[in-house]
Amino acid sequence: MLVHLNPSYEELSREAARIVASAVRSQPSVRLGLATGSTTLGMYGELVRLHKEEGLDFSKVVTFNLDEYLGLAAEHPQSFHCFMRKNFFERVNIKPENIHIPDGMIGGDYEEYCDSYERAIREAGGIDLQILGIGRNGHIGFNEPTSSFGSRTRLKVLTSETIEDNRKFFGAGEEMPECAITMGIGTILEAKKILLLATGEAKAETVAEAIEGPITASVTASCLQLHPDVTFVIDEAAGGRLKQRDYYRRVMEMTARFTPNRLS
Ligand code: F6R
Repeated sequence: MLVHLNPSYEELSREAARIVASAVRSQPSVRLGLATGSTTLGMYGELVRLHKEEGLDFSKVVTFNLDEYLGLAAEHPQSFHCFMRKNFFERVNIKPENIHIPDGMIGGDYEEYCDSYERAIREAGGIDLQILGIGRNGHIGFNEPTSSFGSRTRLKVLTSETIEDNRKFFGAGEEMPECAITMGIGTILEAKKILLLATGEAKAETVAEAIEGPITASVTASCLQLHPDVTFVIDEAAGGRLKQRDYYRRVMEMTARFTPNRLS
């Protein structure tokens, strides 16, 4: 595991975008696993800039988003479909047929639908690079505390903490979804490489638990300790509770010197 501490949110966003861009350049048909949420906005903004100013080509890239609220249509302004269109997909040259986001309006056989999402990931060849944010309760995707580390894409009931955290994105009096379809922990852990982005003091405790705490389903991001290629791209504020900060800085320096490929 690498922990890359950045001085600011802007720098962590640029660093995350740099890693994604490097994956796209070295493998134009790379399969990206994508997250939404306010933390990812800077990274998407920088990827759009790289596309417009430096010609970063997304025409062969295939994407799978982690999650979508149950009951929100793709046109709903608070849907993750809408977030992705507005902040990324409509602003780069990605092909609509290469985009996959769970359907929040699926009715009826949820299990069959979730199995088909898993199948689509498998048939595409698996995810090469998975982007993650982290909830204040340690969730990745919408894998709330106590989610199984073996879980696959499924319907998940959101905790009241997650509902509260995300209510700010919904209008006054607007009903906030209580469930979501999310890739599972087992799905996420199969990605070849994982980047987790975190910013701000409000995430510091959770980030420390995920990186330095015990591996526990109570903080689902702690499962990342089991993955062979994870980088936490965080800012100083989000890393404020880490005990081994100096060590992580030295590891980054040595990695850049001896195994620079690990950083691309
Ligand atoms: C969203 C997702 C969530 C968010 C997390 C952090 O697709 O999977 O796990 O990444 O809730 O959200 P922000 O960045 O808004 O704090």
